[in-house]
Amino acid sequence: MNGQNRSQEALRTAEPLLVAALGRRPVPRPPLWLMRQAGRYLPEYRALRQRAGDFLELCYSPELSAEATLQPVRRYGFDAAILFSDILVVPDALGCAVAFEQGAGPRLEPVRDEAAIAGLRRDHLLEHLAPVYEAIRQVRRSLPAGTALIGFAGAPWTLAAYMIEGGTSSEFYAARAFALSRPDTFATLIAVLSEAVVEHLNAQITAGADVVQLFDSWAGILPEPEFERWCQAPARGIVTRLKARHPQVPIIAFPRGAGVRYRSYAQAVPVDGLSLDTTVSLAWARQALPDVCLQGNLDPAALLAGGVVACREARRIVAALVDRPFVFNLGHGVLPQTDPTAVAALVDYVRSVRLPEHDGP
Ligand code: CP3
Repeated sequence: MNGQNRSQEALRTAEPLLVAALGRRPVPRPPLWLMRQAGRYLPEYRALRQRAGDFLELCYSPELSAEATLQPVRRYGFDAAILFSDILVVPDALGCAVAFEQGAGPRLEPVRDEAAIAGLRRDHLLEHLAPVYEAIRQVRRSLPAGTALIGFAGAPWTLAAYMIEGGTSSEFYAARAFALSRPDTFATLIAVLSEAVVEHLNAQITAGADVVQLFDSWAGILPEPEFERWCQAPARGIVTRLKARHPQVPIIAFPRGAGVRYRSYAQAVPVDGLSLDTTVSLAWARQALPDVCLQGNLDPAALLAGGVVACREARRIVAALVDRPFVFNLGHGVLPQTDPTAVAALVDYVRSVRLPEHDGP
């Protein structure tokens, strides 16, 4: 089948653009979604959040979580919905209780020794997270044909970093020191989390997610040997196990801040898509990451600067990646201070892009 027939077929069967691009099949324009597309920059989210009271309440209420998932899709017609939830529901489900305090970010019961790791409750995971899977089933029923549904999880290193630190941090020194001083104990925690992440993503796929994304938000702070051991190797295991169960479901990874190690990551982890953070040079990525669909990497600050600036920067990204499979996104999440009209301008621009026919990278 030639490229044109294949893209026509993708339209006829309403294969989501996102799924086609991740499968490196030709698409008429780059699929578009934004990390943190649901959230505080949207007035309708702020109203919903007020109704729910607590952020975790929102995450664990299937109706409210489904509504938050659908809000940005309704407003902007994004090509994908990302499930409204949080990466920290996995530690919470394992018994490392999480609380979100307004303005202070997440607080977790710190996990600091072997006893705390041994005490994690591994057999309640799917039961605790059942409302998440119910939210996916509800979203699925309301989503327009052709709009993909993305499930997600935090990667083991990023989850472990929050668990050891007991909250957020800019450097996660306690977690890094723990991993360096007690690597065998830390390996046990990473193994528990890897297992939980596989089960959580598997359940999301079974409930109806078309694509899943693995967020390793703190990958970039590790030196090379630790990056390989705690980010790359666990991601390889997780992706390989999911691929064995769901070979048709595309997987995106986001090893944020990995820099030149995006290359070894792409070689080690059999993902379909790699989400690039804001700092990655696209000229470098084009030659270093030839066999994977690239996603990214507009600076969230460009949206703060307004629609005109965001579109100018988006043009630069489209020009750099126009002849290969790619998914338009930000290099990190939409910031709460973002003006929704800037997002609308960006959406209009990306939807107007027409890609030349291509047959893969
Ligand atoms: O729209 C979407 O992207 C889907 C929902 C989503 C949220 N968090 C909702 C959220 C997703 C995919 C996440 C992922 C997430 N959560 C990550 C990985 C991506 C990244 O940003 O690097 C991380 C590290 C977290 C952990 C987390 N959740 C922190 C540190 C915080 C506090 C800081 C902040 O942004 O408020 C959260 C809270 C959170 N998660 C909010 C939302 C909408 C804000 C909560 C509120 O309404 O008060």
